[in-house]
Amino acid sequence: MEKITAVKGMQDIFQPEVRLWQHIEALIRSEMETFAYREIRTPVLEKTELFVRGVGGGTDIVKKEMYTFSDKGDRSVTMRPEGTASVVRAVNEHGLLNAGEPVSKYYYIGPMFRYERPQKGRLRQFHQFGVECFGSDSPFVDAEVIQILYNILTKLKLSDISVKLNSIGCPECRPVFRQNAEKYFGAVKDKLCVECNERINTNPLRIYDCKTPSCKENITGAPVILDHLCEGCSQHFESVKRALAQIGVPFVIDARLVRGLDYYTRTAFEVTSKHLGAQDALGGGGRYDDLVSELGGQKTPAIGFGMGIERVVIAVKTQNIDLGLGSGLRAYVVPLSRNEAEYAFKLLDILRKADISAQMAVSEKKTGVHFKDAEKAGADFAVIIGEDEIKNGTLTVKDLRKRSQQSVSEAELAAYIKNN
Ligand code: HAM
Repeated sequence: MEKITAVKGMQDIFQPEVRLWQHIEALIRSEMETFAYREIRTPVLEKTELFVRGVGGGTDIVKKEMYTFSDKGDRSVTMRPEGTASVVRAVNEHGLLNAGEPVSKYYYIGPMFRYERPQKGRLRQFHQFGVECFGSDSPFVDAEVIQILYNILTKLKLSDISVKLNSIGCPECRPVFRQNAEKYFGAVKDKLCVECNERINTNPLRIYDCKTPSCKENITGAPVILDHLCEGCSQHFESVKRALAQIGVPFVIDARLVRGLDYYTRTAFEVTSKHLGAQDALGGGGRYDDLVSELGGQKTPAIGFGMGIERVVIAVKTQNIDLGLGSGLRAYVVPLSRNEAEYAFKLLDILRKADISAQMAVSEKKTGVHFKDAEKAGADFAVIIGEDEIKNGTLTVKDLRKRSQQSVSEAELAAYIKNN
């Protein structure tokens, strides 16, 4: 019979990669404790309307990429393509937003779904770590959020990353920018793709994100929103830059940086890696001061980002970064014959009670084959138990990393493994 394979664009994750995922997740959770963010878990399935209103009906995500279907009650539901709209829905629904301080800070780690054309770093099910901070428009909050993403990536020893920063203004600055953009793009509209022709009057900011070569050519020289910021947005942007400099987060200004979701205002940012190819954004986000009210809540300023865990994993692997993870297995206990099996099983229990990760060989094999198995399992030590070992009350402990051997008493075994 034919084998059943995974759905296109969705991947299984197994050892040793799972260990890297766990390491990244543990790092995220520890960093989130430091920055005083609390975890939030929202459903994978939401009402379709949430994303149409939240992400924007004109975005590629909503127009082309959502996994939307009718449930058995004939309600239109969508597998979340991103986390922000869900978190805003949840905090609104449960009244979790304070007016002002302390600001409400949430994070999440979980799968997202977008029906995109799969390629390296682009999947149909992918995982995001995201943070969302509600209740303040202080530029210090913007700097803090960008710092979180930067810290995590640098703690994973990723090099060649670049923090790109822009401000895309607010409803006050956009009208003048729009007029100028409409004029500019109107003059070159024959050279723009069909979609960008529509965008000229609906959402010119999206043209800057178009990947069609002729559009890309014509974006050079187009007016940018950064040159049209109102006084408030301009001062805010200057303060964000100063705050980032103060905490040592390097950044470059990218006046053409726009985001693929409609809810952003003011600060927009992305962190890219040189080691990723076409899908080079490890994470991105920005301020969305109007989204909470657009989704039915009180007007609440907010900012956040999403980081693609698959892309971070690719970057760590491509750069051959040694995070010293190993397999986690410390001891492989080998009874040389059936006669030593019961004693070995008792020893295994002693090790586990001392919180040492241990596994036991359960079939009779040649000693050399046992060693190969121990190495394959990724163990640091093989603990060998034969007739002599039981008679003398000492065990032969082979350090598989150093390729050395030592006699250790049963009483000292756990301490020996812990200390080596
Ligand atoms: P986004 O830029 O659409 O923003 O996604 C954030 C990150 O998710 C990307 O930089 C990328 O690393 C990863 N990602 C996106 N699509 C895929 C895919 N198909 N395959 C693999 N990785 C992918 C958002 O989703 C916003 N919700 C971020 C945000 C939070 N803004 C404010 N708060």
